[in-house]
Amino acid sequence: MTQSQIGLIGLGTMGAMLALNIAEKGFPIAVWNRTVSVTHGFKAEAGALADMVTPCETLADLVAAIKPPRAIILMVPAGQPVDDMIAALRPLMAADDLIIDAGNALFHDTDRRAAEAAEKGPHFLGIGVSGGEEGARHGPAIMGGGLRADWDRVAPILNAIAAKYKGEPCAAYMGPAGAGHFVKAVHNGIEYADMQMIAEVYGVMRDGLGMSAAEISDVFKAWNQGPLQSYLIEISGEVAAATDTHSGKPMLDMILDRAGQKGTGRWTVIEAQHLAAAIPAIEAAVMARNLSSRLEERLAGEAVFGAAPQAGAKLTLAQLEQALIAGKILCYAQGFALISAASKAFDWPMPLPEIARVWREGCIIRSTMLNDMATALTDDPARNLMLAPFFADHLKASHGALRQVIAAGALSGLPLPALASGLAWFDMMRTGRSTANMIQAQRDFFGAHGFERVDGIADKHGPWAGHGI
Ligand code: 6PG
Repeated sequence: MTQSQIGLIGLGTMGAMLALNIAEKGFPIAVWNRTVSVTHGFKAEAGALADMVTPCETLADLVAAIKPPRAIILMVPAGQPVDDMIAALRPLMAADDLIIDAGNALFHDTDRRAAEAAEKGPHFLGIGVSGGEEGARHGPAIMGGGLRADWDRVAPILNAIAAKYKGEPCAAYMGPAGAGHFVKAVHNGIEYADMQMIAEVYGVMRDGLGMSAAEISDVFKAWNQGPLQSYLIEISGEVAAATDTHSGKPMLDMILDRAGQKGTGRWTVIEAQHLAAAIPAIEAAVMARNLSSRLEERLAGEAVFGAAPQAGAKLTLAQLEQALIAGKILCYAQGFALISAASKAFDWPMPLPEIARVWREGCIIRSTMLNDMATALTDDPARNLMLAPFFADHLKASHGALRQVIAAGALSGLPLPALASGLAWFDMMRTGRSTANMIQAQRDFFGAHGFERVDGIADKHGPWAGHGI
């Protein structure tokens, strides 16, 4: 029997799709699932790919089925299950074998597991995989972290299964230890902000302009032909067009406005705070999800203050499109700035242009604009994206519309937290003389914390010394 070239543990939706993708690209694969019937069922349903699949009933069988040095992908829930699986595999695997965690792990856990692997073996890679079920089956974006040599060892398989942008695989090595999972978390943070901004603009169309779901769908479909072309705009057009089979009403109108979240957006925001990086659009998107789940409190608020007046926002669809273009650039600029801050703080030289290139296909945030971002970051990876001439020109043309939309939202009570936070960041980023002098004066007054003077004179305190006590 041919030995498998790789193994995979965890045949849930994502694991099963990834295993089929691997088999389809010509790599014999051994699979194991906690429930044996699932393992056998997987092979039985693999159709033409069944010959490439070796179902294994025990972990020892799985290890024995793979050609050494072995590589085994874990597709199990993040957290303790990953540690449990590593602990179960360690005694069965050789020191130069490799475990690859392809779940949405917290990158600090990946750092810890990489350190443990260096001490006790086997080798360990943490890879971020984006693209949902469809991506896993036909080509996800893959962000790898760990030892470069370990990445290189499995790169032929990962490149083969990854999405392709004009023939180039959307898979790349991001850096040591948790770098791949860190980049995936930022991907998800951007995903949250991109989705939230689209939802906010949807809200303006629905509640401010009184448009139907079908009309809104047409708008998203039209926008998907222009600068906003992206997977998220495309699916927004599709979901807005769908009809509920139970009620016959637009599907969107029948979905409860309480958003779920598995925590990757929150991790991104927490990490940004640790790094003192400013990602307010992403923070606002996480906040909006948190608040969305507080339905009863929102209903109580509406009972006291009334809902925002329906229909009456004086806005054009062209202004909304421009606002979304500006918002999108600002949220991506914040995400890339966070990666840049982490690169420096963790001493991980994460390749910013490469990250933009990997995100061009396969992942949830794939979009035309990411190609322009890759170009801008190749020109100057250290420069904030909003300053790259291509995006600066876009912002110059679109931030006026963003202001109009936010102002109309504020006047009619339509909440636009991600768009507004993006704009506040933009305005702070272009203000040479901010108001932090007042903060410094206050800090010095009440705590004698001292300040720097604009004229360079060494006196660090104001004439109020002693007043704050
Ligand atoms: C992806 C997605 C994927 C998953 C998110 C959903 O890149 O393929 O981001 O990882 O859909 O984890 O996250 P929430 O449940 O937090 O929305």
